[in-house]
Amino acid sequence: TIKACLFDLDGVLVDTAVYHFKAWHQLAQTMGIEFTEHDNERLKGVSRVRSLEIILEIGGKTMAQEQMLALCEQKNKEYLEDVAKMTPEEILPGVVDFLKALKAEGYKIALGSASKNAQLILERTELLPYFDAIIDGRHVVNGKPDPEVFLKGAEALGVQPQECLVFEDAVAGVEAAKNGGMRCVGVGQPDVLSQADVVVKDLTEMSISRLKELEQI
Ligand code: G6P
Ligand code: MG
Repeated sequence: TIKACLFDLDGVLVDTAVYHFKAWHQLAQTMGIEFTEHDNERLKGVSRVRSLEIILEIGGKTMAQEQMLALCEQKNKEYLEDVAKMTPEEILPGVVDFLKALKAEGYKIALGSASKNAQLILERTELLPYFDAIIDGRHVVNGKPDPEVFLKGAEALGVQPQECLVFEDAVAGVEAAKNGGMRCVGVGQPDVLSQADVVVKDLTEMSISRLKELEQI
């Protein structure tokens, strides 16, 4: 049976990818690197430092660790300016209804995000009260596709991995769920998220009865 749902944040509950892209694009430009929306797919679900590494790879550049950390900080400052202005209106379709339904049925709910800004974003969008546990970039050593973030989520909720259903929009995140022995709903495009057990366009397609169907797989 499924007892808990673990949610990724960016791209599943809120669309912060546009703000990440804006900030990285600006930074890439100052380095003379052309960074496109298409390239941005590769940054989904991966850590801040790893994101910069990917951008440098695209530009064929290398950089000292120290300078990389300084640039990450600069990017995050830009990003936080947009996050500070976020409102509950930026919650993606179907999210609040599904979280309410889960709560009403007694399912446990955790966040499993790579972001170090997760808590702040949940506060800004008023989603925080729905969560029984929050595991984010501040609590994990190994980023997705390592299952650490979701395994820690299961542990915090007191459930087994096979009792969890993960919601993910990133390829690395779906892999993390599967690596952790969990069932996974991909949020996005079926051809991209082919490793997921099922793929939905957004959470308007989810319901308790749909969740119960997923217990059969
Ligand atoms: C999420 C996003 C990634 C981002 C990561 C770290 O997983 O999908 O694009 O790089 O969080 O976010 P942070 O807020 O810590 O920079
Ligand atoms: Mg995501």
